[in-house]
Amino acid sequence: MFAMLAQITIGTADLAAASLFLFGLKRMSSPATAKSGIRVAGIGMIAAVLTSFLYVFGVDTAARPHLMVNVALAIIALGIGGGGAWLVGRKVAMTAMPQMVAIYNGMGGGAAGGIAAMELFGNRTHGATQLLVTLLGGLIGAVSMSGSVIAWAKLQGVLAKPLRIRGQQLLNGVFLLAAVSVAGWIAVSGLSGADPVLPLTTWTYIFFAIALVFGVLMTLPIGGADMPVVISIYNAFTGLAVGLEGYVLGTPALMIAGMVVGAAGLLLTLLMARAMNRSVANVLFTNFGQVAKVHRGAITGTERATEASDAGIKMRYAASVIIVPGYGLAAAQGQQKLYEFVKLLLAAKVSVKFAVHPVAGRMPGQMDVLLAEAGVPYDLIFQLDDINAEFATTDVVLVIGANDVVNPAARTDKSSPIYGMPILDADKAKQVYVIKRGQGKGYSGIVNALFYEPNCNMVFGDAQAVLIKMIEAVRGLGAAAA
Ligand code: TAP
Repeated sequence: MFAMLAQITIGTADLAAASLFLFGLKRMSSPATAKSGIRVAGIGMIAAVLTSFLYVFGVDTAARPHLMVNVALAIIALGIGGGGAWLVGRKVAMTAMPQMVAIYNGMGGGAAGGIAAMELFGNRTHGATQLLVTLLGGLIGAVSMSGSVIAWAKLQGVLAKPLRIRGQQLLNGVFLLAAVSVAGWIAVSGLSGADPVLPLTTWTYIFFAIALVFGVLMTLPIGGADMPVVISIYNAFTGLAVGLEGYVLGTPALMIAGMVVGAAGLLLTLLMARAMNRSVANVLFTNFGQVAKVHRGAITGTERATEASDAGIKMRYAASVIIVPGYGLAAAQGQQKLYEFVKLLLAAKVSVKFAVHPVAGRMPGQMDVLLAEAGVPYDLIFQLDDINAEFATTDVVLVIGANDVVNPAARTDKSSPIYGMPILDADKAKQVYVIKRGQGKGYSGIVNALFYEPNCNMVFGDAQAVLIKMIEAVRGLGAAAA
């Protein structure tokens, strides 16, 4: 009776959790509803986690004497993991978000791999389909886990350089083939009862060891700058692995959550690749930022610097201003000062809009989150396709810590490594100001043709420091008038 009640509750709660995930995700598609979407999905996650404890009631405790010890261990693990994530999540800097996503991704992959390991070691899979799905989920989860750890190490600067060796791709191929072969061996001998030569548990260890090494080898040669795309690929992997293990465990919430994450990761990967005009294979198998370092194209002339106060005053008297934020704004943590400056312009009846490129910054949506954090209203923020035509009729464009996403070489220079990448047409405005610290290149490592255009002036300095000077200059006008 108790067991049946638990089963009904589990089924209902699973369905509710899955529905909350989907509803939450739908709300995340707009900045205005994103916060509540995260909360809704979070409630779904809490429901799914609590529900998993109800499985205890359907289990024959006499046959599983360690069950209650396992439950206690699970509660301790939840406390440590949940508490740690809460603390880190509160403190993490906007520029460190990609690392955090990488590590959470790896944990998801590891969890899926862990489920597969438990099923294989416990010999709990039934039939060919379940065994093959377990092995496939285990392989993908393990690769995603070790690959994500390397991605984290690169983003954190622990591993500085891409490690490439001769015949790297052949070596990767050998490891992948070995992992698939061992999985096949486990499946064949497990199903047919044939002598596996070594115990199946030993083969299971070998299988996971090869899969983990493959994840490391696959990620080591990729440049740190390409890590956001790699993280997104591993995100898709993790989702797929979790979905497959959800099937093995017969848990609909896990299956749906896994598939949603997998599909989102895949779409995001394709979106990023398209926004950089690169294929996913190009990201995985070339060393973009390193190769492109010296490209200057046909750029001649010099950059012209101007004072922050002059640029600020010019914007105060302009009719229209478009602001293009980039990675440097996040690095300088200048978003609050930026919005303070924008409020002064709006008060002076200047039309101000923000133009956000899909891959500005170091992870998808980073600029939207940064601006939202500063309190910038959503109706001032426009995406590339919606604002690009407006640059030609705009008085002033203020580029803050952005570089590649406004490089006109992407439109004009066929020899440029970023040729074909969709860019924000900042160069078409009447006047452009670029805030950056010095001669630092963007992520692609190439010289920016915009900085040498006759309508462009550089305002050198840290983004936050420059914005403070601009605010002072515009406020000074008001004080002088009074
Ligand atoms: P970048 O092209 O990387 O340029 C950032 C600029 O910010 C640099 O030129 C740097 O010049 C400046 N900067 C750094 N710190 C600063 C500070 N404290 N104050 C002022 N300026 C500072 O950035 P972007 O325009 O945002 O473009 C993003 C790039 O990342 C694109 O090439 C994109 O393809 C790539 N990427 C993005 C993603 C995602 S999903 N966002 C994924 C993969 C690749 P100084 O050193 O001279 O200051």
